[in-house]
Amino acid sequence: MDTKKNTCFSCELDRRTFLMASAGAIASLAAGGIFGSAHAAPPHTLPPLPYPENALEPVISARTIGFHYGKHHKGYMDNLNKLIPGSPYADMSLTDIIKKTAGHADQIGIFNNAAQVWNHTFYWQSLKPAGGGDPPAALKQKMIDAFGSVDACKKALADTTVSQFASGWGWLVLDHGKLKIVKTGNADVPFTKGMRPLITIDVWEHAYYLDYQNRRADYVTAILDKLINWEFALKNMG
Ligand SMILES: [Fe+2]
Repeated sequence: MDTKKNTCFSCELDRRTFLMASAGAIASLAAGGIFGSAHAAPPHTLPPLPYPENALEPVISARTIGFHYGKHHKGYMDNLNKLIPGSPYADMSLTDIIKKTAGHADQIGIFNNAAQVWNHTFYWQSLKPAGGGDPPAALKQKMIDAFGSVDACKKALADTTVSQFASGWGWLVLDHGKLKIVKTGNADVPFTKGMRPLITIDVWEHAYYLDYQNRRADYVTAILDKLINWEFALKNMG
């Protein structure tokens, strides 16, 4: 397991988060899970899912998670490990690769795969079985300060995420200490623009099409009501 790649916080999954994911994987393996089989070859390795593939049912099916994690997420990792040997990025952490290649058209392949690895690891942590519900008090107050109410914050997050044209991501972020909601296209990630990601929702079609077909709004609403991990968002606030 490559812990060296997971030690910075504000722009990277922090060590605590990484260890949480690892602990989840160990528990999953003990329960007969299959996540350990999805590890990519060094230098970068695929962080394990923090829960079994069927843990998010019925909101997201095990079939969707199986493809999403085992094919798409793993595919980005495998591509990255093919692209960086012999390049200036060979020995960089994942977040440094993303920061160094962001905005450079000639490095778009490395950026896209590195950022998609990071985004998906963050997405798995943004969800949990039996999530949703009331946010922790400190996050709830931030939501009220910025949006007027928790429901208004959730509605803004849903509306912004659903409105992302084509593939991309919806995000709750901290921008200079204030909660904001942003969307990014394709592999783009808010930390390259100085914002701290708190939580994300994947709206690439591979995230929901097997379960929801074209009903993206139903998928986003179901996540916010039943899976979103507000505690993860709070931890990311620092
Ligand atoms: Fe995805």
